Amino acid sequence: MYFLGIDLGTSSVKILLLDSSNNICKIVNREYPIYYSNNSWSEQNPLDWRRETIEGIREITEFLGEESKNIKAIGLSGQMHGLVTIDSQGEIVRNAILWNDGRSIEEVDYLNNIIGKETLVENTGNIAFAGFTAPKILWMYKHEKELFDKVKHIMLPKDYINYILTGNIATDYSDASGTLLLDVKNKIWSKSMLDICHITEDMLPQLYNSFEVIGKIKDSLADELNLSSECIVVAGASDNSAAAVGTGVLGNNKCMVSLGTSGTIVCTGDFTKVKYPYGIHSFNHADGGYQLLGCMLSAASCVNWLNKMTNSDFSNISEISSDIREDIYSNNIFFLPYLMGERSPHNDVNARGAFVGLNMDTTRDQMFISVLEGVIFGIRDSIEIIRNSGKIINKIRLCGGGSKNLLWRDIVANILDVEVEIIESEEGASLGAAILATVGYGRYSNIDEAVEEIIKIKTSILPEKKLVDIYNRKYTIFKKIYPSLTDIFDSISKK
Ligand code: XUL
Repeated sequence: MYFLGIDLGTSSVKILLLDSSNNICKIVNREYPIYYSNNSWSEQNPLDWRRETIEGIREITEFLGEESKNIKAIGLSGQMHGLVTIDSQGEIVRNAILWNDGRSIEEVDYLNNIIGKETLVENTGNIAFAGFTAPKILWMYKHEKELFDKVKHIMLPKDYINYILTGNIATDYSDASGTLLLDVKNKIWSKSMLDICHITEDMLPQLYNSFEVIGKIKDSLADELNLSSECIVVAGASDNSAAAVGTGVLGNNKCMVSLGTSGTIVCTGDFTKVKYPYGIHSFNHADGGYQLLGCMLSAASCVNWLNKMTNSDFSNISEISSDIREDIYSNNIFFLPYLMGERSPHNDVNARGAFVGLNMDTTRDQMFISVLEGVIFGIRDSIEIIRNSGKIINKIRLCGGGSKNLLWRDIVANILDVEVEIIESEEGASLGAAILATVGYGRYSNIDEAVEEIIKIKTSILPEKKLVDIYNRKYTIFKKIYPSLTDIFDSISKK
């Protein structure tokens, strides 16, 4: 028997095939475009997601031949918060507005300051951020009323694919948490938030646990793709929750850092009774529990940006020998990674990227290293908030495309002063989605049991005192750079 884990990411969809011995026997990756415009807008066409996902599944079924009928279950994970709108004919109303889109600045201001942060936290567990779904709904209501009136259903990116696969409109708690429409503590849609956003509950997906079955693959698709018509689809999870499952970060007091397009930290445990500073999010986890999530809008995307800007490929600098690390890490060049504004912890759509400390001796390699460091200093900002609340974080599991770079792993260990564990399979979210499918099918009785069987640690990197000291000194400088530039960022944003 086989299981599919599909991660609907921001730059591509990744489809992973797991066999009955829990081996990953094939991975298919298919890209689609992002449309950036107006300084901070970010959109994708759900029809691109749909086409590439179906073609990706076809690649897998063609690879398996007649064995494809033995794919028992499919699990999805996906980029969070995106606003997908569907009309009464099941057609897309407009392009999806993504998690890193900054257009809803006025709506965020209205929610946080007129409705009020306390009320939002009471209703949902969180305050408003431009990336979240609710402010985007308000933006559409205000700026595109004609289109808004056509909207019959609102869903999240992975839920659109689940809808295409099964015809059912469903979501799971971990992804629903990022809408600012869910009462995270009580796991129900918040009536007050729906009223504030001018929508009704029948426009929203039905809520499920991540491993629960939402339906079977549609007959027409089963025929087209050579799948069994008995193949089930589970609700799935947000990409960060699925990545946490795929790295075995469940239950209490575990931590995952993911270096993908976004950079995230997920910390598990029940935080619903603790009042956290608002810069980080308090969400449901795919295992039925809760998590704190800090999200940087640009992580590995900063490296891609630098590669593109300088027409270079820095992947060849993936390791530096241990005798020169001290020297290299002590340079005084800093990078602010806010190329798309920043979510955690600054909640500032106007923040922008910056290099600080350049001189005539500065080399391209030093600038590259400062980009890697800047992203991890940004992650440390969220980690410090969690640590200051009394939580001890001395070990993390690292995943996402950036985790493959040995130099970045080393920088993570030393900036965060943590042991960094790398899982045998570095796939994170798509593996987590496949694990949810195995549980939904009944191969394992719960997610913990599946993770126990499937997730194995490959290697771990320990922090080194002298490098931690270097980075502690640099972090105190890094922390001062953003506050001293906020006025400039605000002036730049005013055209
Ligand atoms: C998390 C977030 C991103 C997206 C895209 O809050 O916005 O991590 O899920 O990966």
